[in-house]
Amino acid sequence: MRVLVVGSGGREHALLWKAAQSPLVKRLYAAPGNAGMEALAELVPWGGDVEALAEWAFSEGIDLALVGPEAPLVEGIADAFLERGLLVFGPTQKAAMIEGSKAFAKGLMERYGIPTARYRVFQEPLEALEYLEAVGVPVVVKDSGLAAGKGVTVAFDLHTAKQAVANILNRAEGGEVVIEEYLEGEEATVLALTDGEEILPLLPSQDHKRLLDGDQGPMTGGMGAVAPYPMPPETLKRVEEEILRPLLRGLRAEGVVYRGVVYAGLMLTREGPKVLEFNARFGDPEAQAVLPLLESDLVELALKVAEGRLAGTRLSWKEGAAACVVLAAPGYPESPRKGIPLEVPEPPEGVLVFHAGTRREAGRLVSAGGRVLNVVGLGRDLGEALERAYRFIPEVHFPGVVYRRDIGYRALRGSRA
Ligand code: AMP
Ligand code: GLY
Repeated sequence: MRVLVVGSGGREHALLWKAAQSPLVKRLYAAPGNAGMEALAELVPWGGDVEALAEWAFSEGIDLALVGPEAPLVEGIADAFLERGLLVFGPTQKAAMIEGSKAFAKGLMERYGIPTARYRVFQEPLEALEYLEAVGVPVVVKDSGLAAGKGVTVAFDLHTAKQAVANILNRAEGGEVVIEEYLEGEEATVLALTDGEEILPLLPSQDHKRLLDGDQGPMTGGMGAVAPYPMPPETLKRVEEEILRPLLRGLRAEGVVYRGVVYAGLMLTREGPKVLEFNARFGDPEAQAVLPLLESDLVELALKVAEGRLAGTRLSWKEGAAACVVLAAPGYPESPRKGIPLEVPEPPEGVLVFHAGTRREAGRLVSAGGRVLNVVGLGRDLGEALERAYRFIPEVHFPGVVYRRDIGYRALRGSRA
């Protein structure tokens, strides 16, 4: 088969690395890919036009496309492939609304009884500000549209909350804000494969969304992730029964067939798991920790998802744990410096390096984005996985590199409890 991976981040490098192990694959392509993906795939130049990529895929005879990021999904890349009779792993534009509009996702959760924070949606700044006055803090203010993981403000004072509302609603193009109840608990991610009928959860994982150690500093796309997150089996069961299955039932009832991976961002509260957000794709960096533990053939699974044949499938997993540490550029997330020369030695056994914002410039590897490299350690347990990742990082030459030293600290605490 000719398989195409769409995207250029660490998540897509991990998807490609895993796809490359499938005996079903004859040729791999990545659009647009990054410098780390060159060794595994033919890189296809791509500026983001979904119709153009579907046209190219049709003319090349691509058998299956795996779509990594949310932006092309929300723009309808799956629809463009399906219209040309091509198989695609990733939801249609309508189905991707679970991520593309937080207001839509909250409405869906309300209609189908999925536990989540109480909320209101506003387009009018004055009404939003009045509501903030009435509910007080702590409170969470979210941009309803896509914001690359950076559209959420957890406010502990009214001024910050109002500022966040103003930033979203006072834009010339108009906006929509979701204001919701602040939830307390541990955060975890559950990814699940679905063909619209069957839904199969992957190993739980945990991301670290803030820039600095101890979960301080600004929100980022994610600074590191561990898997499996030690979630009690009864909690995982509740996630499946109270969240994932009702989501699927709800989508179906509204005439939407979802094929791809659902990302449930959860708060494990005292009353049980509640949804912070749904995404229409794998998490980044969660995918870099989860996929290396998957024993099953990813391409076979993705085919079953795309063809609606997931029923009866069982997943198999490797023993042990994985930890991904993101190496970001100085200035991330506000204004990452680009063009920094990088040298990445061959990692030892038990360590993987997935590239994100990298490219080659006159034969030299340089940084080309905010999150630049992902170092993944694999081990018998999380401690060993972390030790391997952190032992390798100093060998990477990356002047000014920014990374967290405490990835996995919550899961380590949880696994001892
Ligand atoms: P989201 O993109 O909606 O997952 O939000 C990004 C981050 O903001 C989450 O990972 C949480 O750390 C935090 N957050 C979002 N919603 C809430 C909430 N209702 N209560 C507490 N923290 C939240
Ligand atoms: N790691 C968070 C996300 O992918 O949305």
